[in-house]
Amino acid sequence: MSAARPPTLVAALPDDAALGAALARSLRCDSTVLALHRFPDGEALVRLDAPLKDRRVVLAASLRQPDAVTLPLLFAADAARELGARQVGLVAPYLAYMRQDKRFRPGEAVTSRSYARLLSGHFDWLVTVDPHLHRWHSLDQIYTVPAQVVAAAPQIARWLARHIARPLLVGPDSESAQWVQEVARLAGAPWTVMAKTRRGDRDVRVKLAARGPWPGHTPVLLDDIVSTGHTMVAAAAALARAGLAAPVCVVVHALFDAQAQQRLRDAGVARVVSCDTIAHPTNAIRMAPALARAARGMMAVRAQ
Ligand code: R5P
Repeated sequence: MSAARPPTLVAALPDDAALGAALARSLRCDSTVLALHRFPDGEALVRLDAPLKDRRVVLAASLRQPDAVTLPLLFAADAARELGARQVGLVAPYLAYMRQDKRFRPGEAVTSRSYARLLSGHFDWLVTVDPHLHRWHSLDQIYTVPAQVVAAAPQIARWLARHIARPLLVGPDSESAQWVQEVARLAGAPWTVMAKTRRGDRDVRVKLAARGPWPGHTPVLLDDIVSTGHTMVAAAAALARAGLAAPVCVVVHALFDAQAQQRLRDAGVARVVSCDTIAHPTNAIRMAPALARAARGMMAVRAQ
């Protein structure tokens, strides 16, 4: 007779309680929310209020504001292991620090690589959604633990089929082509990508090279990340200059700074929707079931 499978526990960071509960529902397992206390000097105290011995622990944390979140996350992973967890995996629907994938100026840290090294030292496996892979072609180039990428494209294409009659997929820059092309293929829609020049965090220029014809289509601006919103604003302006209708913006990771949503409204964007990889009022596309499937696969492989 084979040994009983170790029970699974999902432990979510406090801001990711909804994600943790959704994962636990799909995995049909227990969940808990990490107790996190900040001392007056800013240091963190982390507590896991659940039995951990011989369990497979899945830490759930979306890594926006990574500088504040990462240390408590690593403390929790270490605590789980010290308290007897058999394996400790990470479901991070948004994976931080992927955009700094080269030394753009002399002396800069290549943080995507350093961050990967840090997480790889604390977890047995990683599951994430559409990381910003540009100069790195795969997570395996920088992560030394098994890492699985869940694609948001099928869920986005399904959302488009339900909500947008004749979408025209538009990427604001060449880096977005990988997502735009795949969503367009699944949705059976035409697509194009713009040319972007970034001169600073908030200074972005975007040009629409192709001109259609796309009569009767609704432009859908699609990008992996909205942070300040300036890329989407510039892209929406380029569409307006080309005489196209007000776009719908679809984003995988809604990092959104405090003004981003207002900037998009002011730019005349018709609607903004996002995947729920980062909790945000624009969330409309659910990723938890696909993340849970990937986590289940990782746990099974690790258990062999
Ligand atoms: C960059 O390479 C990403 O794909 C996004 O285009 C970028 O992070 C968006 O940033 P923002 O909203 O600040 O223009």
